[in-house]
Amino acid sequence: EEKTGYKNFLHINDFDKGTILKILDRAKEVKALLKSGERTYLPFKGKTMAMIFAKPSMRTRVSFETGFYLLGGHAIFLGPKDIEMGKREETRDVARVISRYNDIIMARLFAHQDLLDLANYASVPVINGLTDYNHPCQIMADALTMIEHIGQIEGTKVVYVGDGNNIVHSWLLLAAVIPFHFVCACPKGFEPDKETVEKAQRAGVGKIEITNDPKEAVKGADVVYSDVWASMGQKEEAAYRRQVFQGFQVNEELMKIAGPQAYFMHCLPAERGVEVTNEVIEAPNSIVFPQAENRMHAQNAIMLHSLGL
Ligand code: CP
Ligand code: NVA
Repeated sequence: EEKTGYKNFLHINDFDKGTILKILDRAKEVKALLKSGERTYLPFKGKTMAMIFAKPSMRTRVSFETGFYLLGGHAIFLGPKDIEMGKREETRDVARVISRYNDIIMARLFAHQDLLDLANYASVPVINGLTDYNHPCQIMADALTMIEHIGQIEGTKVVYVGDGNNIVHSWLLLAAVIPFHFVCACPKGFEPDKETVEKAQRAGVGKIEITNDPKEAVKGADVVYSDVWASMGQKEEAAYRRQVFQGFQVNEELMKIAGPQAYFMHCLPAERGVEVTNEVIEAPNSIVFPQAENRMHAQNAIMLHSLGL
């Protein structure tokens, strides 16, 4: 949705390929600038951002707050107990009040509909910092990391192993825009949202596969990707899920089947010894920390784009 020069960042496929690649290029450029120690590029000077968190966070909070500050702005952290959007006060009221103080809003929420409502009533850009449905900023950072390590996203094979969750939905929506091969290997009953799979397939851009066989899936992968088996809001199911997800752990055996070209990626936080072994996270082909670092750079570029800067 477009608002006179302002753009929300809610789903990757709200943008075309050219725009996504342009944002990633910008991320590389501003990353190089910040890495060089340059501190005079201050496009967010005089701007403020409200960050609404209904769920916990380390990377999202620290990377958004630091990135916005480094480019001259001021970010306000609103934790789960602060404004209690939807409980203390209706989302449509929060959206309109915050828009009168701040130039941009970042929100991490449970229900995706709450994010859509927030964006609908806000008069400034809204950035999706994760919902139960998707996590587009993460997958933009992942795409940037792939460009840095593999040289491109286009034509690669990315195999996600685990729960068909919010991370998978954003991968699917990236594959609706950029042509690469995306495979989700998950236990029966834990497949990603059917409509989203169909949407990505209908786009006819990337090759999309959903399977229950991780060993077959990872063969020849450029990236083997893992995430927690129990997401935020599902932690009471963790013990049950550990049973069901047996065989979906990313370990040295699975990485060997994938092949020597395969990088390991994980959005973090990881539960070592559960969805991924300690050895795989610590291996030389694991790029989980560059990936985490790139959250900040991808998001800086997303915010520049959303603010029309
Ligand atoms: N990957 C990610 O979003 O991490 P946080 O939950 O710590 O923000
Ligand atoms: N699927 C995970 C991602 C955390 C960054 C969750 O939603 O908890």
